[in-house]
Amino acid sequence: KTTKLQVSPETPENEKISTAVEFIKKGELVAFPTETVYGLGANAFDPQAIRKIYLAKGRPSDNPLIVHVSSLDMAQELVIESVSSYEIANRLWPGPVTLIFRKNKRIPDVVTGGMETVGIRFPAHPIALALISRSGVPIAAPSANLSGKPSPTEEKHVLEDMDGRIACIVLGGKTLFGLESTIIDMTRNRPTLLRPGPVSPERLKDLLPELVVPEFVMAKQGYKGPALSPGMKYRHYSPDVELILVEGTPEESSKKIEELVKQSERKTVVLCTEETKELYPKNFDRIVLGSRENLYIVAANLFGALRELPAQGFQLLISEAFPESGIGLAIMNRLRKAAWKILRV
Ligand code: TXA
Ligand code: MG
Repeated sequence: KTTKLQVSPETPENEKISTAVEFIKKGELVAFPTETVYGLGANAFDPQAIRKIYLAKGRPSDNPLIVHVSSLDMAQELVIESVSSYEIANRLWPGPVTLIFRKNKRIPDVVTGGMETVGIRFPAHPIALALISRSGVPIAAPSANLSGKPSPTEEKHVLEDMDGRIACIVLGGKTLFGLESTIIDMTRNRPTLLRPGPVSPERLKDLLPELVVPEFVMAKQGYKGPALSPGMKYRHYSPDVELILVEGTPEESSKKIEELVKQSERKTVVLCTEETKELYPKNFDRIVLGSRENLYIVAANLFGALRELPAQGFQLLISEAFPESGIGLAIMNRLRKAAWKILRV
């Protein structure tokens, strides 16, 4: 039976964190909130515990895990590079950024799927920080969803996927960003963006003027280049139903979407925004993800919509596209990965 702990996200209660810490120390799994998405954590030094993560998620064992730390010193214990010599570590940690470094021997091979490198993240969420620092060990954690489902951003999502499968779930409300961390590989000749996230390339330009943003980050269909990150091989965020992404200006795409909805014989819903919802006939099912003025809200609501709309009986989701600047790049990356079909108008 899964122990559920309702914990304050601002001021985590000591006793409740202690309960979660005991599970980590015993080699059990604990799901917990971070400012990006919920993570499924285990002691990163305990190979047996790490194996349980792959089992609980149904995750391929060659897809490496991110190791979460609660200080720069803890990060330094795990990697060969001098962490504090990297401006980006000093400036963006704690925060929604994962940095890939060369691992030392302390990280078991099961954590990295046999890779020589390890992704390290120093999250800013008070519950995550309390759990890690009081456990006294780094915590390896992928997103707390079943493999192939959207990452959990709300309490009900993590319960849906993990209740009964793991020892403990820490419930701490809706996560702030709702999209997984920005991943940057620091081990290449030039730092390379592997996954767009809450911290955009524009914001990274000052800290990492040399940053490479590879073509695959756009997640355009048909990318045939090398997989720089094992996660790229796997299909992500696919809702149980068909998602069609229509790219183009809101005016152009709304016409195409209207046509598609009218042709559709299935229960269909349009994913749109405050600014565009009126472009569709009143009798259409529409979900407003947020406003185009603040794409952070769209990002925070996206995974919830992809997860919940199918459960509400919708068989076809049709989404508008977003500008690829700021967090919009991460939104488009996730939408394209989830899409069964992408249309450009
Ligand atoms: O925001 C996040 O990053 C969340 C929270 C829980 O921290 N975690 C997360 O983990 O999204 P996960 O396992 O769902 O995604 C980690 C991604 C995978 O695509 C994996 O392939 C990649 O990071 N990755 C991990 N270690 C890597 C490495 N050494 N080299 C390249 N890619 C790596
Ligand atoms: Mg994941």
